[in-house]
Amino acid sequence: MTDARFPLRASRRSLLRFLLGSPLLLGARSVSGLEELMAEASDCAADAVERGELISTPAEALHVFDFRATAERALSPGHYAFLATGVDRELGLKANRAGFTRFGLRPRRLVDVRELDTSTEILGTKLSCPIALAPAGLQGAFHPEGELAVARAARRNDHLQILSTGSSASIEEVIAAREASVWFQLYTVGAWPVTRWQLKQAEAVGCPVVVLTVDLPGFGKQDRLRRFRGPGSPFRSTDNANCVSCHGSSMIPRLARAVRAVGVDPMELISDALTLDWDYLDRIRDATSMKLVVKGILTREDASLCLEHGVDGIIVSNHGARQMDNSLSTIEVLPEIVRAVGGRIPVMIDSGFRRGTDVFTALALGAAAVCVGRPYLWGLASFGQAGVEAVLTILRTELETAMRQMGTPGLDVIGAAHVQDRRPLPEPS
Ligand code: FNR
Repeated sequence: MTDARFPLRASRRSLLRFLLGSPLLLGARSVSGLEELMAEASDCAADAVERGELISTPAEALHVFDFRATAERALSPGHYAFLATGVDRELGLKANRAGFTRFGLRPRRLVDVRELDTSTEILGTKLSCPIALAPAGLQGAFHPEGELAVARAARRNDHLQILSTGSSASIEEVIAAREASVWFQLYTVGAWPVTRWQLKQAEAVGCPVVVLTVDLPGFGKQDRLRRFRGPGSPFRSTDNANCVSCHGSSMIPRLARAVRAVGVDPMELISDALTLDWDYLDRIRDATSMKLVVKGILTREDASLCLEHGVDGIIVSNHGARQMDNSLSTIEVLPEIVRAVGGRIPVMIDSGFRRGTDVFTALALGAAAVCVGRPYLWGLASFGQAGVEAVLTILRTELETAMRQMGTPGLDVIGAAHVQDRRPLPEPS
């Protein structure tokens, strides 16, 4: 495949392939270096660009990674960087994938798996499949129909959609396209009257659950994105420097409306932006009739505090490694959080989920459901609604395949006996 945008990467991969095939390499590199190369090569193998087979229809995709390549092709460099970026050295991106290698699956045999049931219920919301769409802002950057295309795909395939505060479309429009309620993800802006106004808006349109994202105490250093957006960036003039023209967020006008409605001094929004703490969470919990789910928990200590503060559910998340580098992968911390929660509230998880077996592993470790972020955005960027549908179909089918192979016809029978930690840690004292 010849594409001026990929030559460096493609030649690096060809070199990798050549080196891996060479016996000389064995003498020249340490074993761990070789393992690193192998790991990188196998990840490359998942990429359609390398195979020279960019898919041209969603039906051609073998797995969700096939949409990553088409998304990169479809988007401007700046928009793709916004989708793909990690932070700093992007160790977290790799860790989120590598974390799954720590757990092996223990299948049971001779179980009748002709009939599968992937349905479940979380906080009163019925799900036909425990794979949900994670909140992601500004989806207009990926496709002109943005969140509305995603909502139509979620309706078609029957998946839960969590709508970001930073949505390009309004909650009302998204609910109309989904033809069902969505969960509302909340970023607070500090000034309490505005937060309360946001809660009332979501309640008024029938959102049953508010998902409070707590892992943004100031933005992480998204260097990959800053290459395209920063002043002095060599790419700034060639990319969409003024993104308001291509993907306005409904958040800004909504907040402006809130500021007018509640009469807050806009300066208060800025100066109070970091005030989110447990007291503030208590105020949110007390001010809304919606169930409160906290997104961004990574430790058993905070999971226990969630219980103490009457939170209804947790999403274990490191924001897809987009805010802080080098945190543990979410699948690695899931067991300690599940243990701390002890079944009292549902624990969901996201960050790095790309395969049906990834989802199965989380369910076996005690997650009630898994959210995916980038994979459905790759589908959206590549083919709009049809791409999102295809991604959801692939993930659901892969999960069903895993359930058959594991001898688990329903989610209720998936449990700790189906997974083994290859490197168990000592029990915390
Ligand atoms: C996000 N994420 C996110 N989270 C959130 O609570 N509110 C938001 O507005 C956004 N916006 C956003 C934009 C984009 C482009 C991405 C990729 C992600 C984080 C998201 O909800 C989720 O935690 C991660 O995407 C999960 O990781 P994976 O599946 O992308 O690896």
